[in-house]
Amino acid sequence: MSQYANYTVASDDYDKTRAAVGVDTILSCLARTSVPLGNQIVLEAGCGTGNYLEALRPHLGSLSGMDFSEGMLTQARTKFGEEVELTCGSILDMPYEDERFDGITCNQVIHHLDEGPDASDDPVDWKPCSNPNVTQFIQEAYRVLRPGGAFVINTTSHTQFRDGYWWADLIPVAVARVCCRMPDLDRLKEILTAVGFEIETVSADLDGILQGPSYLDPMGPLGEAWRAGDSTWSLSSDAELADAQQRVEKMNTEGTMQAYLEERESKRFGIGQGTFVCGRK
Ligand SMILES: C[S@@+](CC[C@H](N)C(=O)[O-])C[C@H]1O[C@@H](n2cnc3c(N)ncnc32)[C@H](O)[C@@H]1O
Repeated sequence: MSQYANYTVASDDYDKTRAAVGVDTILSCLARTSVPLGNQIVLEAGCGTGNYLEALRPHLGSLSGMDFSEGMLTQARTKFGEEVELTCGSILDMPYEDERFDGITCNQVIHHLDEGPDASDDPVDWKPCSNPNVTQFIQEAYRVLRPGGAFVINTTSHTQFRDGYWWADLIPVAVARVCCRMPDLDRLKEILTAVGFEIETVSADLDGILQGPSYLDPMGPLGEAWRAGDSTWSLSSDAELADAQQRVEKMNTEGTMQAYLEERESKRFGIGQGTFVCGRK
C-alpha cells in the first residue's frame, strides 16, 4: 500500500488548504435510489480530517468515516465527537459487514492506493501500474454496499492533474509520477465495471478548487504548509522542488507571475480539477 504523503504531519494544516468541492454532485448521485437521503447510512472511505463528512452530514441519516491516518482522524474527531463513527484502518480491507451501507463516497484518495515511482526513482525504470489496490478497494466497496446503492469516486483525471492546477507546470516529473500510480478515467471505469458496478455518470467539476482560497497564492510553492495541501508536491525530487521554487521567486521578483497564473488558469477553466464517477451496485 502506498504511503507517499505523510498525513500525520499534513493533518495539522490540512484544513487551511483544502475544501470539500462537489458535495451537490455526491448528494445527487446518492439521492437516485429508493432510500430517502435523510435515512441513508453512508461511508466516506479515506475521510481524512472530515471535510466532506461535515458538508454531507446535514443531508444524510448517518455517516461513517474510515482512514488509516490517526493524525487526520484526530482532526475529524474534534469536529464530530461521537456523532460520526470514525474507524482507523485501510480501506483495502474494511471491517464492515456485507451490504451495510446505502452509499459510499471516496474523495481524492485513489491516487494513494497503489505503488508507483517515488521521487528517488529514475524515470527509465518506471513501469505502468496495474492498480491492484484500487481494484481491491473497489471490490471491498462493492461488498459493503447494499444492492442499488451508489458509489461516488471523486478523483482527478491525468489531464486534470497536468493542467487543472496552475503549479503542476512547475513540477512535471512529480505530476507524471502521480499519474503513473493511478488509473485514468477509462481504466477506472473498466475496473468498476469488472467488479460489477454500473457506471451512471462521469462528470468533471469545472468550478471547484480543491485547495480553497489559498490556491492562487503566488508565493504558495515556497511554503511547506501550502505544499502539504496537495500530496503531488511530496513526489518532487529535491532538485525539481528547488527548480520550481527558483522559478516562482524569479517570476514574483520580475513581475511576470500574474501573467503566468492567468495563462495557467485559462487551462483549468475548460477541464476543472476533479471528476466524479458515480457507480451503482
Ligand atoms: C487527499 S486526502 C483526502 C481526505 C478527504 N477525503 C478529503 O477530501 O478531504 C487522502 C486521504 O486518504 C487516506 N488514505 C490513503 N490511503 C488509504 C488507505 N489505504 N486506507 C485508508 N485511508 C487511506 C489518507 O490518510 C488521507 O487522509
